[in-house]
Amino acid sequence: MDRIAIIGGARLEGEIPISGAKNSAIKLMAASLLTDEPLRLTNMPRLADTRFLGRLLQRLGAEVVDQDGADGPETVLTTREIVSGFAPYDLVRQMRASFNVLGPLLARTGQAKVSLPGGCSIGARPVDLHLKALEALGARIDLHEGYVYAQAPRGLKGGEISFPFVSVGATEHTLLAAVLAEGETVIGNAACEPEITDLADCLNRMGAKVSGAGTPTIRVTGVSRLTGATHPVLPDRIETGTYALAAAMAGGEVRLTGTRADLITALIEKMREAGVDVAEHADGMTIRRGPERLKAVEITTDPYPGFATDLQAQFMALMTLADGESVIRETIFENRFMHVPELARLGADISVQGGEARVRGVAGLNGAQVMATDLRASVSLVIAGLAAKGETIVNRVYHLDRGFERLEEKLGACGAQVRRLRGEPVEEAAD
Ligand code: EPZ
Repeated sequence: MDRIAIIGGARLEGEIPISGAKNSAIKLMAASLLTDEPLRLTNMPRLADTRFLGRLLQRLGAEVVDQDGADGPETVLTTREIVSGFAPYDLVRQMRASFNVLGPLLARTGQAKVSLPGGCSIGARPVDLHLKALEALGARIDLHEGYVYAQAPRGLKGGEISFPFVSVGATEHTLLAAVLAEGETVIGNAACEPEITDLADCLNRMGAKVSGAGTPTIRVTGVSRLTGATHPVLPDRIETGTYALAAAMAGGEVRLTGTRADLITALIEKMREAGVDVAEHADGMTIRRGPERLKAVEITTDPYPGFATDLQAQFMALMTLADGESVIRETIFENRFMHVPELARLGADISVQGGEARVRGVAGLNGAQVMATDLRASVSLVIAGLAAKGETIVNRVYHLDRGFERLEEKLGACGAQVRRLRGEPVEEAAD
């Protein structure tokens, strides 16, 4: 199993190009099942998760070709025919987002058998809203032995769905099914995340009729078939925010390119409040932090445009060295403080009660061996390691590889002392 070793203390100076968004790319890949024509996704991130989903799509009948295009990495997915409507437990367990093939399979062929994903390290993460939405579109859903058997022999029909709370995955899943349903679908209390807008844009390029994406009410007028298209994957806002926080933690000046400041407005506001200088420009932003100590600030995670839960662990790492006490409230997932005991191994002073963590800033962190149970928690430990004295070793790097492309190369190019220690290969994922 690979590990990442970081020697803390180096200031970061340079430029980091941001990749396409993992959480958009994997839903866009699933959308390719909706047409028999090629869907070409540009600005594709090359990650363990995208490779993994590519393999599942191949089993369902897709041809998946990774290539270098004029503007960088792209993937072309062509599913002339669905050869199987079965997504087994082993694959869905390893990557929850595999569950999102259910809607497109059902929409295109009228049936699917997809494993329930089960819980994961950050929470129980049920899929009840996904299933209720598919039922509202006329699907018959039966659950047996851990599998969802879904049927819509005469096709899906448009329907009205109003979610009791915001769910990114359920909103995306409903969109993926509704575009080929007969008639109009209205999704109320829809998630407004930029990945939803990206998915809707791609579906519209494929001939779908989706309006209102990015607002709480999305309307879809079903069409009888979708075509191929070319679509650029949205920049990764979580990668953007993570490197912004890394620069703030290590100090120095880092320009993030190929991204958009408006994707992380809530984070930028909090970083400025803490004392970090963020200059926005057309293709990204520049983060500057001098030697002065940052101020502790409070955050509460919320659906977009609120503070992203996927940046909570990284922000907590920054707050471990801030002046004062920072209160961090996690409202999206019930178990997303797994990084706290690991940050404590580096010398952080944090106490947790329910969904609230209190971080009392310390004067310094010290390198240690640490381990994390999910992707964003792992990268928070890398960020902490950048400012810790001595060497920090982050175990279970496969989590990082799922969502951060060439992390050690990108940080290393800015002067960070980060290297990968090679170990036995593992084929593991958890989210
Ligand atoms: C997506 O997960 C992201 N994953 C997560 O990123 C992200 O943290 C999350 O959205 C919130 O922004 C992907 O896009 C692959 P939700 P998702 O449905 O869609 C509950 C990362 O690190 N819920 O908005 O699964 C759920 O348990 C990952 O990249 C139900 O109760 O999130 C959670 O408490 C981690 N029933 C809340 O809703 C349902 O049917 C919000 O989850 C669905 C969700």
